[in-house]
This record gives sequence, structure tokens and C-alpha cells, in this order.
Amino acid sequence: MIKIENLSKKYHSKGNSVLALDEVSLSIEKGEFISIVGPSGSGKTTLLLCMGGLIHPSVGKVNIDGASIYDMGIKERAAFRLRNLGFVFQTFNLIPYLTALENVQIPLSLAGNNNGNQTERATQLLEKLGLGDRLNHKPRELSIGQQQRVAIARALANNPKIILADEPTGNLDPNTTNETVTYLNLLNQTGITVVMVTHNPGVAERAQRTLRLVDGRLAG
Ligand SMILES: Nc1ncnc2c1ncn2[C@@H]1O[C@H](COP(=O)(O)OP(=O)(O)OP(=O)(O)O)[C@@H](O)[C@H]1O
Ligand SMILES: [Mg+2]
Repeated sequence: MIKIENLSKKYHSKGNSVLALDEVSLSIEKGEFISIVGPSGSGKTTLLLCMGGLIHPSVGKVNIDGASIYDMGIKERAAFRLRNLGFVFQTFNLIPYLTALENVQIPLSLAGNNNGNQTERATQLLEKLGLGDRLNHKPRELSIGQQQRVAIARALANNPKIILADEPTGNLDPNTTNETVTYLNLLNQTGITVVMVTHNPGVAERAQRTLRLVDGRLAG
């Protein structure tokens, strides 16, 4: 379902250029749970962002369900992302002045749902993640693990087929790390494809397959 062909990404900044990805090709089947590991600076985040339609590669193609996402226009790609992909980040990226419920409503609103449907779906998701009694809390009023669960609920809002997670447990203690990976596992068992970048070997192990990046290349 995700097919990456000959992907390279070169960043240019202040007269310097960095080859972050160097001719990466890989396929991920529907329903897989993949972890991506590798040293700091090896290109893991860049690969995830390219995979998710968030940064344009310098060379190469990303196909999701047969659609070549960088052959789309920017608006078409944004709409494709909204319908098909959910993102989870190390720092959660919740909006501080919105409640948990409102944070989860954002992608639902972007997808054109009316207010009633947004509230219903967001409430349902937060309840599923054990946050039914925290709907009106702001991020700072939640524990770190709870904030990550709000972020996961938000990623699930539009029923994505794929979850892309960049160090989702990077800021969590061992218990909440374990809890978060368990949630990702459960989601995967419902048929969602999960791709997760992690530094934590114990977390990586809980995926079905591990891809290792070294200097922007896949290592065996
Ligand atoms: N926007 C950018 N502009 C210039 N160089 C960048 C940019 N983003 C990343 N890089 C460089 O590209 C390389 C790969 O970065 P990337 O963030 O993908 O690594 P990573 O494997 O996710 O690292 P980490 O484990 O530290 O998060 C690094 O050398 C980094 O300095
Ligand atoms: Mg990174």
C-alpha cells in the first residue's frame, strides 16, 4: 500500500547541502506495523515526512494505494493526507488554548463535518482512549501520557488507513511508553497500517518489521 521508489532528499540551507535520504526504495503492505530505527541524523524523520506527503523529495516517488502523491497538486495532496493519513509526533503538537475535544475536532472540521458530528466523533475517540472524563481539559491540564493519547485520537479522527508516528514515545516514561505502544498495536489490529520511528529498541521490537537507516540509506 505504501511504495517508495528511489527516494532522495537533499536539504539546502545557507550554502550547505545535506543528503538526508539517498535512493531509498521500500514497500509496506496494508496492515503492517513497521518501526524505523537508526542513528540521530540518519534521515528517519525525513523519510516519514516524505512518506506522509509533508515534504517534497528531491528525487523519487511515493505511492500510497496506487496514487503517486507528489504527482498531485498541493491542494489535492493536502486533501489526500486528511482522508488517508494520521500523524503522531514526539511533542504531540496539540494546540494549547484548545480543549482535548477541540483539538480532536480540528481534522474533523477540516474534512467538512458539521459541529454535531465533530463533537460526537471526537467524544467517541477520546472515550476509547480512556479520556472520556477529560474532554474539556486543556493540554497543560493533562498528564504527558494523556496528551499523547489526545494526539492519537486526533490522528484517528478521519479514519486514516495509515498512522505515521515520529518518536511517539520520545517524551514518555516507561509506563506511558508501554501504554502508547499498546494503543498503536491495538490500532494495528483493527487493520490500520502503522509506521513508527523510534530510538527505543524495546519499542522497535514490538513492530512486525524493523527498517534501519544509516546515512540516509536503508541498511540490511
Ligand atoms: N530542514 C532542514 N534543513 C536542512 N537540513 C536538514 C533539515 N531537516 C533535516 N536536516 C538534516 O538532514 C539529516 C536527516 O535529518 P532527520 O531529521 O531526518 O534525521 P533523524 O534520523 O530523524 O534524526 P533524529 O533521530 O535526531 O530525529 C540531518 O543531517 C539533518 O541535519
Ligand atoms: Mg527525527
